[in-house]
Amino acid sequence: MILHTIAEVREQIKEWKKQGLSVGLVPTMGALHAGHKSLIDKSVEKCDRTVVSVFVNPIQFGPSEDLDKYPRTLDADAEMCKNAGVDIVFAPSPKEMYGEGHIMSNDFLTYVIPPYFYVDKLCGKSRIGHFDGVCTVVNKLFNIVQPDFAFFGQKDAQQLIIIRKMVNDLNIPVEIISCPIVREESGLALSSRNKYLNPQEKEQALALSKILYNIKVCYDKGVTDTRALFETAYGFLTPAHSLEYLDFRDENDLEEKTVADDNTRVFIAVKIGNVRLIDNILLGEN
Ligand code: PAF
Repeated sequence: MILHTIAEVREQIKEWKKQGLSVGLVPTMGALHAGHKSLIDKSVEKCDRTVVSVFVNPIQFGPSEDLDKYPRTLDADAEMCKNAGVDIVFAPSPKEMYGEGHIMSNDFLTYVIPPYFYVDKLCGKSRIGHFDGVCTVVNKLFNIVQPDFAFFGQKDAQQLIIIRKMVNDLNIPVEIISCPIVREESGLALSSRNKYLNPQEKEQALALSKILYNIKVCYDKGVTDTRALFETAYGFLTPAHSLEYLDFRDENDLEEKTVADDNTRVFIAVKIGNVRLIDNILLGEN
């Protein structure tokens, strides 16, 4: 069932709640791939009912980012959801979520701003206001769907950590379920933005996972100095790679690490051509 309005979703959710059914939410921007499917499968398995939201959220894109060209594939997304046992695909318009003219009008003025310490680093450093847009839309989706569980991928680990903090700080009654990164056999982490890569760039994109795996191998052999671990990346970078960051951070509060341990997550962002890719790995994971 594809629903486009908040009122329709609320009505259905009210019915389910009356019946005592648990509800899972998988928030997405569409262009669904196997990574999203793994979140959907988890929700369908765990919850009585599953809602997938498909909404390319304009307020989380910066003025020079890819909002207009972000892939929109609602028919294919709905088909995947149907086959996976999803109960509702919620696909609102920007007007439904933010009113007439959204950002510039009086229809929508209230934002959820995550703590500065969580956004002044990694993706937040170059994507100013991005996490304000993410927290605001996720909060709205939580209020509309009132899920018992919400499923997020570790691919966007900074986002996941910020959303957990928001849920905790604002006492939002939802349990956040964190799901592992899904990768191609080559190691490339699945992302809707991989669609932008030509074959040569896709080959070059393998550097991200190679750097992360190599750091993990070095860590497993006993190297814990993050400066030394950082330097192992150079061998994988070519002039085609523009490294935005390679950072070692605490898994829970994003504090920088100089000595790596099992709770250290290594974050990388690289631009290849016009495509910005991110990936990460937790050093303690098997
Ligand atoms: O991760 C995403 O796809 C988006 O940031 C989210 C969580 C759906 C909010 O728009």
